[in-house]
Amino acid sequence: MPSSLSPHPTAPGPKATRTSQVCDAIGDTPLLQLHVVAQGLPEGVSVWAKAEHLNPGGSVKDRPALAMVRAGQRSGAFDMAQDTLIDATSGNTGIAYAMLGAAVGFSVELALPANASAERKQLLRAYGATLHLTDPMEGTDGAQRVVRERVAESPGRYFYPDQYNNEANWTAHYETTGPEILAQTDEQITHFVAGLGTTGTFTGVTRRLKAHDASIQCIAMQPDSPLHGLEGLKHMPTSRVPGIYTPNEADAHVTMQTEEAFAMTRRLAREEGLLVGPSAGANVAAALRLARTLDAGRVVTILCDTGARYLSESFWENATDTTS
Ligand SMILES: Cc1ncc(COP(=O)(O)O)c(C=O)c1O
Repeated sequence: MPSSLSPHPTAPGPKATRTSQVCDAIGDTPLLQLHVVAQGLPEGVSVWAKAEHLNPGGSVKDRPALAMVRAGQRSGAFDMAQDTLIDATSGNTGIAYAMLGAAVGFSVELALPANASAERKQLLRAYGATLHLTDPMEGTDGAQRVVRERVAESPGRYFYPDQYNNEANWTAHYETTGPEILAQTDEQITHFVAGLGTTGTFTGVTRRLKAHDASIQCIAMQPDSPLHGLEGLKHMPTSRVPGIYTPNEADAHVTMQTEEAFAMTRRLAREEGLLVGPSAGANVAAALRLARTLDAGRVVTILCDTGARYLSESFWENATDTTS
């Protein structure tokens, strides 16, 4: 992804150089064919995963975070030397903002549910961000409410990208993730499957794929219940629906059980060597479910973030440990 993020005027030279390198490292991730977990599929059917966990911030959200910061700069809404960036995030967008803030030299405050994984909170603090921990029962909706309250209390202090309603969120994927997938599949992709959080990934990639070939089938996945363990994903019927989301753009909607996603997350680590998080497991499980119904096709999905962010969670089950 080309860099055009300029640091604030007081940033010394070397910092500007580092900024450019961090921004340039975002995107152009590999597209990996899944072999072991995809065994038994009909000949002519394959499943591919975009390795977004290999972005420098460890997730797919590096792309929209950079795009929203750039858009804020361009419009004049974000003066990096004066304003603090604030947003509500279940973690990964916040990690990306915090990484960019550290690289460029702007302050970052984030609201996130208190039950976000310990690793995520530690990472945000490691990058120097200030955290506002919100009621876990309210999920990311509660985090959004707290941000709106703080912004209303201190007019002029904050730049609030509001990833749920920011067009640069989905256009980041329209301009980068979508074209990369088309190029990496030699335009032979037949199906795209992605889970819904802010819906930026699904919306942006789907619009780009459909603009290329309207017959490419785009399938949206979401957790099957409000109390799920798929960090980053939303159960839409019980959530505040993101402003950037248009439900009828999906050719089909599917749901995913947390346990099925956890099982696939373990398999990806142990059988494919891909240490990714539960939403990536959910995406792959949904992609494989679809692939089993096809006679021919190339199914693409997203590995949203690194599994290193969830190591303290019990779903890994140390079934291979021995004691002596
Ligand atoms: C781990 C993880 N998976 C999936 C998603 C969903 O992506 P999107 O917000 O583009 O819908 C997110 C979003 O924050 C996420 O953090």
